Amino acid sequence: MYVDFHAHILPQADHGCENVEMALSQLKYAEEAGVDTVIATPHFYPDSDTVDEFLRRREEAYAALSGVYHGNVNIVLGAEVQLAMGIERLEGLEKLCIGDTGCLLVEFPSEPWPYWIFDSVTEIARTRRLRPICAHIDRYSHIGRAKILKLNMDVQLNASAFLESFRHRREYINLIADDEVHILGSDVHGDGKLAYRDFTRAVKKIGRFMPYLTENARKILARKNKGHS
Ligand SMILES: [Fe+2]
Repeated sequence: MYVDFHAHILPQADHGCENVEMALSQLKYAEEAGVDTVIATPHFYPDSDTVDEFLRRREEAYAALSGVYHGNVNIVLGAEVQLAMGIERLEGLEKLCIGDTGCLLVEFPSEPWPYWIFDSVTEIARTRRLRPICAHIDRYSHIGRAKILKLNMDVQLNASAFLESFRHRREYINLIADDEVHILGSDVHGDGKLAYRDFTRAVKKIGRFMPYLTENARKILARKNKGHS
């Protein structure tokens, strides 16, 4: 069984899931793909959202879904937090972590990146004592990826990356083998049919490294937050 570490499955919490019916469809496909745990990571954009508004929206979405969902997939609440200037000082940042792990899934904005962005990541770890996790490293340029890998963060890869060219697939497998990519996610938006088909294909391509990715995800979920606000 697998962990989907990055998923937009909460109805109307962001643009990834339109309603409860769509969420149920996503979870059905997730279960069929062998996923037993999904980390729900609605987008949090600090320039247009507040932590309190986000948490209210996420709680309502989760309540609407859990009231009608009777399947076997365990849902853990988190967020996909876009990095923005000063985010390391955002009040309540720790409330956006995955469950109570103290781990924060962060998304880099469009490249090129401003000078402060790497300091923000470092400060999230140093002063907030949270563990940032890089979302979908496959989305960034080669230069961007190299910069992220120097930060020694936990790194998440999207399953759809394995459907790119053979050269890309080999590159991602090497990153996993070198312990530079640690966890897999679907980043599902929409009804889930294509995203979890891609997830299943990626699992096959990843082959013998898949237990390593799953074990990493479960270890992160077992962490307890030692951070503070
Ligand atoms: Fe995402």
